[in-house]
Amino acid sequence: MFLPPLNPPITDWNGKTVWIVGASTGIGRATAQALHARGARVVVSARKAEALTAFAQKNPGSRALPLDATDAAAIRTAASQLLAQGPLDCVVYCAGHYQAMRADAIDVGEMVRHVEVNYLGALHLLDAVLPAMLARGAGHISLVGSVAGYRGLPQSLAYGPTKAALINLAETLYLDLHDKGIGVSIINPGFVQTPLTADNAFDMPALLTPEQAATAIVKGWQRGAFEIHFPKRFTLWLKALRVVPNRIFFFLMRRVKP
Ligand SMILES: NC(=O)c1ccc[n+]([C@@H]2O[C@H](COP(=O)([O-])OP(=O)(O)OC[C@H]3O[C@@H](n4cnc5c(N)ncnc54)[C@H](OP(=O)(O)O)[C@@H]3O)[C@@H](O)[C@H]2O)c1
Repeated sequence: MFLPPLNPPITDWNGKTVWIVGASTGIGRATAQALHARGARVVVSARKAEALTAFAQKNPGSRALPLDATDAAAIRTAASQLLAQGPLDCVVYCAGHYQAMRADAIDVGEMVRHVEVNYLGALHLLDAVLPAMLARGAGHISLVGSVAGYRGLPQSLAYGPTKAALINLAETLYLDLHDKGIGVSIINPGFVQTPLTADNAFDMPALLTPEQAATAIVKGWQRGAFEIHFPKRFTLWLKALRVVPNRIFFFLMRRVKP
């Protein structure tokens, strides 16, 4: 049976303006690179201005716009600057913070930091770009979540809940925005070798490079997917765990190292 895609597929990036927040390193940077190679005008944001400028210099037509995503005013100012020059076709929230944490070493300051970077930053970005997208009846919003948002996982006390919130946010946004002509997608990667995961002391299963992650993301947009998750050989197992009864889920998770 033919099922239509949940979002308008994005097949041609030529001349499209894409703003990626969280693009100085890792998945965001590799995605910016992939879209630039396909002809998009990419605006890269994050705190590390030097890395962003280096990207813009290497990729003519792209632009560095340094900011801290936890600063609502900075996001609003950046959005106004960009929107004054033309519409934003795609906006991606890829900024992320991760520190392993368990309940026997709870650090509420760190937990709040996770909420600020991983979740509240996405809200500031939405607040800044949604009115213009609604007025135009076009555009696409992508949030980078994680498979860590599917269920509670070991070491994920600070990180996991923020990613669960993003997944829920994206679903609700989709319900509200689809009929208004705005695409919404949630990107849930498995393990990707980036500065975020560099301190993981365990062997990360099905580990991808940022470039492989970027390829999967671009393919997902091209398919018009709502959820873009990869690599499937890892994420499908985690999806299966979502429907496993709690007793079995906790039994299995208690055996996971670390
Ligand atoms: N790597 C994985 O295995 C994996 C798996 C699932 C999901 N993810 C998610 O993928 C996204 C990208 O992570 P990554 O793995 O590519 O790690 P990364 O290379 O560390 O990238 C994180 C990005 O977020 C930016 N950032 C952090 N705090 C920020 C702030 N306050 N304001 C603006 N930008 C900020 C960083 O730039 P600055 O430091 O320059 O600000 C960087 O560009 C994150 O949302 C992460 O949770 C990663």
